[in-house]
Amino acid sequence: MTLPQPPMSLLAELTHRCPLACPYCSNPLDLERKAAELDTAGWRRVLEQAAEMGVLQVHFSGGEPMARPDLVELVTLARKLNLYTNLITSGVLLDANKLEALDKAGLDHIQLSFQDVTEEGAERIGGLKGAQERKLKAARLIQASGIPMTLNFVVHRENVARIPQMFELARELKAGRVEIAHTQYYGWGLKNRDVLLPSREQLEESTRAVEAERAKGGLAIDYVTPDYHADRPKPCMGGWGQRFVNISPSGRVLPCHAAEIIPNMTFPNVRDESLAEIWNNSRLFNMFRGTEWMPEACRSCDRREIDWGGCRCQALALTGDAANMDPVCGRSPFHHIVEEAVEHTEAKNFVYRRF
Ligand code: FES
Repeated sequence: MTLPQPPMSLLAELTHRCPLACPYCSNPLDLERKAAELDTAGWRRVLEQAAEMGVLQVHFSGGEPMARPDLVELVTLARKLNLYTNLITSGVLLDANKLEALDKAGLDHIQLSFQDVTEEGAERIGGLKGAQERKLKAARLIQASGIPMTLNFVVHRENVARIPQMFELARELKAGRVEIAHTQYYGWGLKNRDVLLPSREQLEESTRAVEAERAKGGLAIDYVTPDYHADRPKPCMGGWGQRFVNISPSGRVLPCHAAEIIPNMTFPNVRDESLAEIWNNSRLFNMFRGTEWMPEACRSCDRREIDWGGCRCQALALTGDAANMDPVCGRSPFHHIVEEAVEHTEAKNFVYRRF
């Protein structure tokens, strides 16, 4: 049997604990408690096994990864193993001492998330008073440290008109890159979809704002559009079990951050088996890998090795079966579900995510 290529990136979800309460949180509906988290030795083993397999990058994420006191130790080890290290953080727990320690550990890159450019908008989404000020302070510390920084803005109906100001802030903070990512509706985000989903006009306006900024040059821009206005699915995670591996706080090994919604599945765990064994041979990773599992319309589609059938978690959340065609695809018999959702947006209060 030919073994799959090793994953390129590992997402280490060190904890689900987070001071923010974003209504579009992409973590699973059932968050893992602190007592269930892998200890430092467990995470060290994960990093060593990942490097041995040929993984190139590790993204320390959460929840808020800075809530883990062993973050610096783990970054130090990852660098020693020649892994490229990226910290995905909200910045609200970052201070000068912690940043200096991370810098000394060799951290390669920081992705700092902002919920908005205005204090009011940021607090309405994140649910944490004073968060915007703390984030701006964190951004200035990172800028002064010289660690390369990407600013990440999740956009939705309430803040999409402020994309030009998001670019202004990124230039002011001297971020090398900015990511404008329309909300994806998995996990908790699906609960708030009807409040967050932008209209087609808003999407077009946001795309024009991104194109205008790209034309100015000098700022690298990643732009993630919302699935629901597309008629071809995205290659979620670069294909199931092909490029990314996700480790949950308790050590579950997953093809994506949302896969725990798959029913009747025993999720493999690094406490029981090696990462390589799970990646190569587990039922979970082989379930939707490649093209063999695809329904007929996908298998005969000339985009089958471009979008790899789209998003399995979205197919499950919207149609009840992860093996169905992604309803985003215009050829899917379930496409009417996303078309109806686009029509059914409504102004109501968020359901916040609290740990
Ligand atoms: Fe799981 Fe897309 S989020 S496959």
